[in-house]
Amino acid sequence: MTLLGQSLCLYLAVVCTSALPVHPDGLPDPGALGDQAHYNAELDRCDGIEFDAITPDEKGNTFFFKGDHLWKGFQGPAQLSNQSFKELDSYHHLGHIDAAFRMHNTENPKDHDHIYLFLEDKVFSYYDHVLEEGYPKDIQQDFPGVPSQLDAAVECPKGECGTDSVLFFKGSDIYTYDIATKLVKRKQWSHLPNCTAAFRWLEHYYCFHGYSFTRFHPVTGEVVGTYPKDARHYFMRCPNFGGIYMRLDSHRDGIHPFPIPKAWKEVTSGVDAVFFYTDKIYIIKGDQVYIYNAAAHFTLIEGYPKTLKEELGIESPVDAAFACANSNMVHIIQGRKMFEIDLTATPRAVVRDALLPIPKVDAALCGPDGVKVFSGSVYYKYESSRTLAFSRIAPEPLNITSAMLGCED
Ligand SMILES: *[C@@H]1O[C@H](CO)[C@@H](O)[C@H](O)[C@H]1NC(C)=O
Ligand SMILES: *[C@@H]1O[C@H](CO)[C@@H](O)[C@H](O)[C@H]1NC(C)=O
Ligand SMILES: *[C@@H]1O[C@H](CO)[C@@H](O)[C@H](O)[C@H]1NC(C)=O
Repeated sequence: MTLLGQSLCLYLAVVCTSALPVHPDGLPDPGALGDQAHYNAELDRCDGIEFDAITPDEKGNTFFFKGDHLWKGFQGPAQLSNQSFKELDSYHHLGHIDAAFRMHNTENPKDHDHIYLFLEDKVFSYYDHVLEEGYPKDIQQDFPGVPSQLDAAVECPKGECGTDSVLFFKGSDIYTYDIATKLVKRKQWSHLPNCTAAFRWLEHYYCFHGYSFTRFHPVTGEVVGTYPKDARHYFMRCPNFGGIYMRLDSHRDGIHPFPIPKAWKEVTSGVDAVFFYTDKIYIIKGDQVYIYNAAAHFTLIEGYPKTLKEELGIESPVDAAFACANSNMVHIIQGRKMFEIDLTATPRAVVRDALLPIPKVDAALCGPDGVKVFSGSVYYKYESSRTLAFSRIAPEPLNITSAMLGCED
């Protein structure tokens, strides 16, 4: 998978994984959890969970469902599903859902971006976590031709499927449902495992089975590349499953953590800072700098890693780093100090330094709308690296979730 995909606005901010508990070695058997009707709050998706359903909501938060619990987002503990989707309990006491998807139907704003949850022969439509009037309904009433007791469902917008559609999965059958005409086509992709959950992420389609997933083409079912892959490396933040980046994407798909690609075997655990300059990605880890060529499948450039001192003329540790497009400067943040280093000067030297009004910076990035500085669960937005350097008091902190919405502005 490429890290520089077609996302609407792609940036990286490094997430610290050191606070997480250590995961025991070896892969647990997902079947061991399969028959339990009720799960407690200790349920840990890093143990290898086979999800019942996965769907994003209208804000780009992704929900992973298992039994009567769910996880919101790509990190954090399990919580009871009925905290987020209250009515689920009043109608059914089985404590699970079969399938879920987010509706893509811009022609019909009344339905667009609603989450549909499926349980046996019923469908629940939620918007903003409120059950729509008239729901639950029989699946057949809303989606004629689609069977009960589904395994998985996923939206497939026009452009990715021929028309705005939904793919439903049951056993080895796939039902393509055309939203406008309500026509259903049944097919089988025998090479694809039976999916227990399906998820669309950044125009790509993933079938989840066991604790693994397989990417498939939503029209042909074609699988390209090496699959299945372990979901814990990609769709959740698990200790011992690689150093993970947080990636800020389109407002519709939200924030997604992403692993350091396999190709970067040199930097398999905790990275301190990352920045892009020209077509290269710089990774700072301890007192070493790794430079990968983004144009050539992220291959490590010969002669690297080098020490921070040698490459950038500074000492470790580094908390964050960013470079803005059309500038030859990299900004390195160490504690409350920010250093500006000219990447065209040899030897490298600090051109300017500044004292920041933010005590603990986790990550920083520069994009078309300015500089964002991340600290804990909040971020600070600056017009430019210059305004950051000259600011004496921190601006109003913004919740990191709103970064998703701010992404395209
Ligand atoms: C939520 O679910 C739990 C476990 O299934 C149950 O004990 C609790 O009563 C439910 N809460 C509500 C408000 O329905
Ligand atoms: C997939 O589902 C079909 C039913 O449609 C079932 O016969 C088959 O055994 C399932 N395959 C696996 C590997 O579970
Ligand atoms: C940020 O999140 C906190 C707690 O979740 C909330 O109370 C606050 O209103 C949020 N602030 C903004 C600007 O959304």
